[in-house]
Amino acid sequence: MEKIVIEGGHRLEGTVAVSGAKNAALPILVSALLTEGWNTFHNVPDLRDIRTIKRLLIDLGAKVQTSGSMVEIDASGLNSYEAPYDLVRTMRASVLVLGPLLARLGRARVSLPGGCAIGARPINLHLKGLEELGALISLEHGYIEAQARSLKGAEIYFDVVTVTGTENLMMAAVLAKGVTTLRNAAREPEVVALAEALNRMGAQITGAGTPVITITGVEALKPTSFTIIPDRIETGTFMVAAGVTQGNIKIMGCEANHLRAIIHKLQQAGITVEQEEDGLRVVGTETISSVDVKTLPYPGFPTDMQAQFMVLMCLANGLSVISETIFENRFIHVSELQRMGADITVSGTAAVVRGGTGLTGARVMATDLRASASLIIAGLAAEGTTEVSRVYHIDRGYECIEKKLAQLGGHLRRVPE
Ligand code: EPZ
Repeated sequence: MEKIVIEGGHRLEGTVAVSGAKNAALPILVSALLTEGWNTFHNVPDLRDIRTIKRLLIDLGAKVQTSGSMVEIDASGLNSYEAPYDLVRTMRASVLVLGPLLARLGRARVSLPGGCAIGARPINLHLKGLEELGALISLEHGYIEAQARSLKGAEIYFDVVTVTGTENLMMAAVLAKGVTTLRNAAREPEVVALAEALNRMGAQITGAGTPVITITGVEALKPTSFTIIPDRIETGTFMVAAGVTQGNIKIMGCEANHLRAIIHKLQQAGITVEQEEDGLRVVGTETISSVDVKTLPYPGFPTDMQAQFMVLMCLANGLSVISETIFENRFIHVSELQRMGADITVSGTAAVVRGGTGLTGARVMATDLRASASLIIAGLAAEGTTEVSRVYHIDRGYECIEKKLAQLGGHLRRVPE
């Protein structure tokens, strides 16, 4: 295993480019299962999770070719409908193959993903929706056994907004007979991107980005080419890193329209965020203001930015209340930040951050993807040296984060643990 060693106290300056969005690339690569022939996807990030999903697609019989950030997938030779336990447990987004396999083969056998560090992560709404489309679902020996002679359009209502639930059912419905309506659907940009990719394949989807998505089933889809949208969470992570080091950076290739809630909260905290012709300019400040944040489904403040924003609040000049409404256990980073001197009190779904204590370097352990990012950001701001172990968590969702931050003047290096 490896760790990242960070020398704190260096301002970030210069220009950095963001990669394609992990959470858009995952469902879009999977959507190739719905077609026969070569699909070409551009701006695909090189991440552990992307390598995992490519391995799963190959196991299902697809051909996958990668050249830099271009990935080509041909699912003509689909010859399996099983997503095995050892793969799904390493990446729960593998459940996204459920919908396409049912739509294409009428059969799917997918290991139940189980929980993860941030919560139980149930998929009951995925399964309920697939049953409403006519699938027969049973749970046996830790596996979801799903089959459907044919899927029929239905009215589906999500009790809770679910991103991959919306994506799974969208992909199941595109070849179903008749019209499917998804109500209380997720509005994330990654959902919109998937709908755009599917429509380029010949699907008929309207309403993506609103709470009501309508899918009119078609006979078949054809392969296409598509460019993955930029990663709004990677972008937000760099913005906070600039904020905690009083830096001045330009972020290239990002999409400001996907960042409105993040930009708003950073500006409230005193960080300057300005759109320049070829990127986003982010300038830190000596005095960071404490700001309350509540995580919500898009377009609210993203839960995937909660841990990173908390570090900024540790350096602010007052009290801030950070409420996590999406996942039940997403304050794991708090105990590690406390070891760096942060003054944070967790009570239920809220964390009260008393800023102004400053942070000191320490040996800390990453537990999940975004918590790891917050520990690296804390290390950039801390006085002294921070060692973040188990960085395989961060490699799931960030492409060479230490190289990109070092390119901005951060003092980081990756060493064997
Ligand atoms: C997606 O996870 C993202 N992952 C997560 O990003 C992100 O944190 C999350 O959406 C929320 O924005 C991918 O897109 C691959 P949900 P997902 O279903 O789809 C409950 C990262 O760091 N729920 O929107 O699994 C669930 O328990 C990752 O990149 C049910 O109750 O999240 C949670 O409380 C972490 N039943 C809430 O809904 C279901 O069937 C939102 O979960 C499904 C979800």
